[in-house]
Amino acid sequence: HTRPFVKIVEVGPRDGLQNESKIIPTVTKAELIHRLANTGLSVVEATSFVSEHLVPQMGDARELMRMIKRNPNVSYPVLAPNIRGVKAAKSAGANEIAIFTGASDAFVKRNINMTIDRSIEIYTSVIQMAKQDGMRVRGYVSCIAGCPYSGKVDPSIVADVAERLLNIGCYEISLGDTIGIGRPHEILAVIQAVSQRIPLEKLAIHCHDTYGQALANIYASLEAGIRIVDSSVAGLGGCPFARGATGNVATEDVVYMLEGNGFRTGVDLDKLVDVGHWISSELGRSNESRAARALMAK
Ligand code: HMG
Ligand code: MG
Repeated sequence: HTRPFVKIVEVGPRDGLQNESKIIPTVTKAELIHRLANTGLSVVEATSFVSEHLVPQMGDARELMRMIKRNPNVSYPVLAPNIRGVKAAKSAGANEIAIFTGASDAFVKRNINMTIDRSIEIYTSVIQMAKQDGMRVRGYVSCIAGCPYSGKVDPSIVADVAERLLNIGCYEISLGDTIGIGRPHEILAVIQAVSQRIPLEKLAIHCHDTYGQALANIYASLEAGIRIVDSSVAGLGGCPFARGATGNVATEDVVYMLEGNGFRTGVDLDKLVDVGHWISSELGRSNESRAARALMAK
């Protein structure tokens, strides 16, 4: 009998790199995406079509998309916060976009300069346009376990926002613990609230490792039936609009845990470890994956 499959959504080139202050050459980003696509990952989030002033690192989105040699087995979603973003994504050849809002007005205001309600209005038109152009749309809800500006977040608000994203046409909803503050029982309370309104198979968990809770939260999510996990190679990343956010959970650590725990990911861990080491040295930063460091030391 076969082991259950867990889909990993690699967000390093986007969520990871968006937080690097030094501008990285577009060729290096393209190379990272190519190497990641070569490890067996089925989704590699590539970039964002957002304000270049606010997120300078993503300012080369168009050029980058043109540089990527597509692997037909891999999808390369890009973030698009408005109509301008979806148009730019389309003209750059994207076949999938991701839209992003949150469960806290204070965060959403700082991130995309609008209320949650307004973001749903705008995304309703964004999704219509994306679908006319044959693009799929993934949705993010940030701050599921707490907001850096307003504190506690009620799971029922997360459920409400997630349901609205589903109703306007997202095929999958990623639940983001943007500041990595949640603990397993809190994440489980969120999943429980959301799964009363949305089928579990449409939910992804997106953990940042700020408080060292990411793998524990992912394990709890798997036990609750989640089968889609967002992660970032070498633990790259953070969110420039969420004070104190660190990188996402490292993809290497997630793959190491899953493959040894009765799941299958389709990802070649050795290849992935090489990619993580390569990009860490390109960026001159330490590799935040514990599994990668341990495997390299063997
Ligand atoms: P705004 O100021 O309300 O809107 O920004 P605007 O239409 O007045 O545009 C502001 C500037 O951005 C203008 O340029 C526009 O031309 C430009 P300026 O006049 O300053 O030269 N602009 C654009 N440029 C490129 N592409 C576009 C675009 N739209 C406008 N599509 C806006 C609203 C949403 C545009 C802005 O707030 C923005 O771009 N925010 C970026 C937010 C972002 O990228 N955040 C990080 C990703 S989210 C995340 O990391 C969380 C996640 O990982 C999940 C989790 O962890 O929880 C997904
Ligand atoms: Mg994130």
